[in-house]
Amino acid sequence: MSLDGKNIFVTGGLGFIGSHTVLVLLEHGAKVHLIDNLSNSFPRVFDHMKKLAGDKADKMKYTKCDINDKEGLTKIFEAETFDCVIHFAGFKAVGESVEKPLEYYRNNFVGTVVLLEVMRQFKCKNMVFSSSCTVYGLPEEVPITEAAPLKAISPYGRTKLFQEDMFRDIAVGDKEWRVLLLRYFNPIGAHPSGELGEHPVGIPNNLMPYIQQVALGQREFLRVFGSDYPTPDGTAIRDYIHVMDLAEGHVAAVAKVLASPELGCTPINLGTGKGSSVLEMIRAFEAASGKKVEHKLMDRRPGDSVAVWAATETAERELGWKAKYGVDDMCVHQWAWASKYPQGYETPIAE
Ligand code: WQD
Repeated sequence: MSLDGKNIFVTGGLGFIGSHTVLVLLEHGAKVHLIDNLSNSFPRVFDHMKKLAGDKADKMKYTKCDINDKEGLTKIFEAETFDCVIHFAGFKAVGESVEKPLEYYRNNFVGTVVLLEVMRQFKCKNMVFSSSCTVYGLPEEVPITEAAPLKAISPYGRTKLFQEDMFRDIAVGDKEWRVLLLRYFNPIGAHPSGELGEHPVGIPNNLMPYIQQVALGQREFLRVFGSDYPTPDGTAIRDYIHVMDLAEGHVAAVAKVLASPELGCTPINLGTGKGSSVLEMIRAFEAASGKKVEHKLMDRRPGDSVAVWAATETAERELGWKAKYGVDDMCVHQWAWASKYPQGYETPIAE
């Protein structure tokens, strides 16, 4: 689908999913103004994006701005008219959210209130929101459909659920709002060029960045949280999805919003519909990297679910979108990024 001539505002545009999505928006003909407050990213990401954007680099603009900065947002919306907003910006570490709930509510929830007030002021009521499978809590059954019960099991998850509820209320109160809530499963992988990827700050909470650091020799071994789950190999199962598939899903969502006179507020799962266990992911990354990933079987991690994977029918029907990449591709692309930039965006640039 073409987004020729469309102007898209992207929050958190220097983040893992945001940066990949901006590039795919450009490929589909859009112009993009992205903001980021650099609380979990680096200005250098924009340089990597410009390198990949080639002759479309002049179609994207970056402003350092926090979604809580109403004045800063207003200045941007006064100067440009946006056809749609993609809202990625937000803190996303489950463990950290337990220690710092107030910071999560202030940044994720109040920040989104500020963004929505500015959007309303400038009559921009088209939104694609970065939600998460975390709103399903510990699912009763898999695959998980969008009709599954919603339940947050961490302050981070609650901020996502509260934001979803806010969008639902807004869309009821004002029919002009058109909102798609994209519930990601487990985003991994990297841009096939190896020029963009995930740069976790500190000790990675998530599986794949940790496996990557073990393969690089930066960590001694991976702790496998739980080997006594009722699954084929005893380790927990997740729906890992390539970040490039996620990026394409966002472009399809923007096109859907712009093409739907009446949309209201609709949740859509973005997953592959396939589950992979922790041990399967270890083996896939070893095959992709040629490196041994040392690991030790440990107790389960509190709050983890046994198995999570997406029902994908809604995305196929509503967006005409389906994930293309498999786990092997995800690991090959992630290794291309890791071996080229072993310290991520802090890797010294060869002179
Ligand atoms: C995956 C599997 C772990 C680390 C998280 C967030 C969720 C969403 C997706 C944002 C689990 C196991 C992990 C390790 C391990 N993010 N694991 N050793 O927990 O499914 O979901 O990311 O919206 O909100 O909670 O992802 O990568 O942390 O764990 O064995 O060192 O890997 O137990 O089974 P999770 P994860």
